[in-house]
Amino acid sequence: MSPITINAQRLWDDLMTLARFTEPNTPGWTRRFPSTAYQQGRQWLQAQMEAEGLTTHIDAAGNLFGRREGRENLPPIHVGSHTDTVMGGGRFDGALGVLGAFEAVRTLREDNLSLRHPLVVADYISEEATDYAVACMGSLAMCTDHFRAEWLERTVGGVTLRQAIIDMGGQPDKLGQPLVRPGEIAASLELHIEQGPVLEARGVKLAAVSGIVGIHRALLELQGKANHAGATPMDLRHDALAAAARMISAIEEIARAHPGTVGTVGKLEVQPNQGNVIAGAVTMMAEMRSLNMQEVDGMWAEFMTIAQKVCAERGITVQIFNETRMDSVIPPQWLHELVGHVCQRLDPHAIITPSGAGHDTSYVGLIAPAAMIFVPSLDGRSHAPEEYTAPEDLARGVQALAETIVEVDKSS
Ligand code: GLV
Ligand code: MN
Ligand code: MN
Repeated sequence: MSPITINAQRLWDDLMTLARFTEPNTPGWTRRFPSTAYQQGRQWLQAQMEAEGLTTHIDAAGNLFGRREGRENLPPIHVGSHTDTVMGGGRFDGALGVLGAFEAVRTLREDNLSLRHPLVVADYISEEATDYAVACMGSLAMCTDHFRAEWLERTVGGVTLRQAIIDMGGQPDKLGQPLVRPGEIAASLELHIEQGPVLEARGVKLAAVSGIVGIHRALLELQGKANHAGATPMDLRHDALAAAARMISAIEEIARAHPGTVGTVGKLEVQPNQGNVIAGAVTMMAEMRSLNMQEVDGMWAEFMTIAQKVCAERGITVQIFNETRMDSVIPPQWLHELVGHVCQRLDPHAIITPSGAGHDTSYVGLIAPAAMIFVPSLDGRSHAPEEYTAPEDLARGVQALAETIVEVDKSS
């Protein structure tokens, strides 16, 4: 019998409380970076952390941390995820990883389990790709030198990325170099809903994640010429939307030609977006993903060649902004095995599965041993209001997380 007992009702209540911090007039449970709802949800979380006796801190990227001290002078174990959502998102993607970490900390205290290591509950900022196009922004800025100063000037809805980070408590002008170095975090764990159908289809409740896909993503701005849709002959047009359509088809074809990879344009802005006006400008967000990063790189290069050709043929200029390349990651074997053993103790049928979704663990894994645990998603639904995981499945995931924390504390 494990000496740890998760309070499933308290976990559920916390998830439902956070879900109430939702932007007005948006579908589902929407909490986008840097909205007021997102800021207020984090203020609530920070207050909860402080009431629990954790020491809170917001770093230069705007990541929120709550720290409980350990018995020894060791680097901390980080446990967390994100509290932002996609537009029209659900209540569990990211929130489970943060509030589950918090529930694990509370349970360890109640069960009188002290740890050798400090334990940090982490809420990484802006994990979901926004119109600034940078996904996993907080963990990227914390763990890499990928953050580019020019990203700060990009404006969405009248707000520069610089201002958005300031509004969230960060210090954008300090970004560019990693905020944490290898060796400064003992290990990192992230509990997450699967967001796909595999666990449910296999009838299992837990999975140790064997790897996370790499993602190449960018904003492409196509500049053509708006003109009359009736009076402008086909050979005299500079139609940015027609070029974008070719490029979207190319992404689909490239990804279909590489089994196991995916490619998506999920966001398009058209100017002036009128039925009888040739599109003068298009902004699209394009991304490609695979566990095999070489394949992603090759596919992206192929896409770029097609994009240049398609635009040149139509007299359209294309500019690329806020390009990110997140490497695929495989957890270190010792940590993956440790997570796998804990999962099997709680569910004898627990499986090992890769993640097609991106996660903060991808960046944290660059500077620390990092691993993930999945719980099932009903009907494999996620990034949608229907996203659901049964309370007992959520609690089992947190139980696995807490037991993993205790084992990592002993072994690192
Ligand atoms: C995040 O949820 C992603 O995979 O895009
Ligand atoms: Mn997500
Ligand atoms: Mn997520």
